[in-house]
Amino acid sequence: MWVALCPAADVPDDDVLEVVRDGHVYCAYRIGGREYVTDGICTHAVARLAEGFVMDDFIECPLHNGRFHIPSGRAIDPPACDPLRTYPVRIEGGALQIELPG
Ligand code: FES
Repeated sequence: MWVALCPAADVPDDDVLEVVRDGHVYCAYRIGGREYVTDGICTHAVARLAEGFVMDDFIECPLHNGRFHIPSGRAIDPPACDPLRTYPVRIEGGALQIELPG
């Protein structure tokens, strides 16, 4: 099921936008001209990743500096070791959409 997350124009180039939808926190990115969406809460502890730093295609957590690869969600640097969930993304009618199960 595809759901609209935000206007595609709101997603910043080479940076991150936090979007809360139905109580779930997401991060939306445009990296090198391509959009990505991951979960917005760090898998190590409760930190909002959108308050961290985007460098190339990595995001660094603001709390303990764990790092994730945005396209794959892979945890790159400790203390983060569990991957971030990533979502299939498309743009329809100017909206950034993600695919959710069901
Ligand atoms: Fe993100 Fe610890 S909360 S690395």
